[in-house]
Amino acid sequence: MVRRPKIVVEPPGPKAREIIARDEAVLSRSLTRTAPLVGVGAEGVWVRDIDGNEFLDFGSGIAVTNVGHMHPRVVETVKREVERLIFVNSFDFHTVPQVNLAERLVRITPGSFRKRVFFVNSGTEAVECAIKASRYRTGRYYTVAFINSFHGRTMGSLALTSTSTTARRRFQPMMPGVVHAPYPYCYRCPLGHREGPPDCGFACLSYLEDQILGHVAPPDEVSAIVFEPIQGAGGYVVPPGEWVRGLRRIADEHGIPLIADEVQSGMGRTGRWCAVEHFGVVPDGVTLSKAIAAGFPFGAFVGRADLLEWEPGAHENTLGGNPVLASVALTVLDVIEEERLMENAERVGSHMMGRLRDMASEHEVVGDVRGKGLMIGVEFVRDRETREPAPRVKSEVIRRAFKRGLILLGAGRSSLRLAPPLVITEEEADVGLDILEEVIGEVEGDLLS
Ligand SMILES: Cc1ncc(COP(=O)(O)O)c(C=O)c1O
Repeated sequence: MVRRPKIVVEPPGPKAREIIARDEAVLSRSLTRTAPLVGVGAEGVWVRDIDGNEFLDFGSGIAVTNVGHMHPRVVETVKREVERLIFVNSFDFHTVPQVNLAERLVRITPGSFRKRVFFVNSGTEAVECAIKASRYRTGRYYTVAFINSFHGRTMGSLALTSTSTTARRRFQPMMPGVVHAPYPYCYRCPLGHREGPPDCGFACLSYLEDQILGHVAPPDEVSAIVFEPIQGAGGYVVPPGEWVRGLRRIADEHGIPLIADEVQSGMGRTGRWCAVEHFGVVPDGVTLSKAIAAGFPFGAFVGRADLLEWEPGAHENTLGGNPVLASVALTVLDVIEEERLMENAERVGSHMMGRLRDMASEHEVVGDVRGKGLMIGVEFVRDRETREPAPRVKSEVIRRAFKRGLILLGAGRSSLRLAPPLVITEEEADVGLDILEEVIGEVEGDLLS
């Protein structure tokens, strides 16, 4: 029989409330906190809270637990490797797992050219490395990024991030030289084209070429074009392939490194190692983090060898490439390959998309469903015709689903990002989708009638 969420006490239960009260007194107020979950245990697609409730996880901690929570092989690797070697500073010295992992990442990332790898502890640092490597290599000043993109919160990557002004307000000056071009969020075209591609003529691409590179940032002074192959925090927005291929063409014409930020979309989530592969484009470098070490702080920038042929001392870190975590990452790669999780992501993802599209035809509030593999966005609207965003519908759906044992995460102004662990079965996906559908029906009735 298929497992279902188990709610023994309405969350947050008494034990959760106590921890949350203490948490609120000492932790930074900048943390968003989607739901009052105090996690104490997890396995596969299930998360248990401190009061004994069991939740089905449709978020994977934002695309982190791709191999499932507490995968036994990950747990075994950690136990084995901490008994062997916890740390050798990997910029002064060498370790075996770091080399093994770098060789492996070079093979699985797009492009058959020679590559090099730099290991980091988070997504933002992977992006920082990409920015610095591109600037060092080209000696150029500008960085091109895109509206509604998320690349991190440190001063370099934050300069690229433009999902919301909340993330940016009061932090200027950030890294200078960043120019933002429109991203093809075709459901809400930033240039106001309602007709969508190809009828819009890919106006966002011409805007980049004619306006940004023609008037603001001379292309021979651009060090990198950094983009998300599928926008993550911005709402799981899938661009048209022509746009991604257009970026490649522009980058080639002007000798600009093209960097795909795969921190959220990578590691098999979309049915490919990197989401950019769906568009038949080979970037000059990719950033990886989140799912790479199953929840441990780790990440990498993998780029064309020449991007990382910089002077010793030009860029280093203390904890990057930790041998235990590099071993975990190797296990994650094995699990994704051996358990055929990319195939599963495609199969279950297309089943979910089918059901979500049916929901869209039944429920007026579901304005758009989009995605690749198990990276699926569901956008709510107050009105199908005007496409007015419905942020309250989003937050109410998340809140009510949580009460019923389904973890959902929001993205963008009024979208859900559905990103269950890649080990999810079709039956488990249906359990979550049944709850989602029920909740959407209720919220639609309560908020919009
Ligand atoms: C595409 C992308 N890049 C970079 C980051 C930053 O990663 P981190 O939060 O690990 O610094 C994120 C995080 O959500 C992301 O989605």
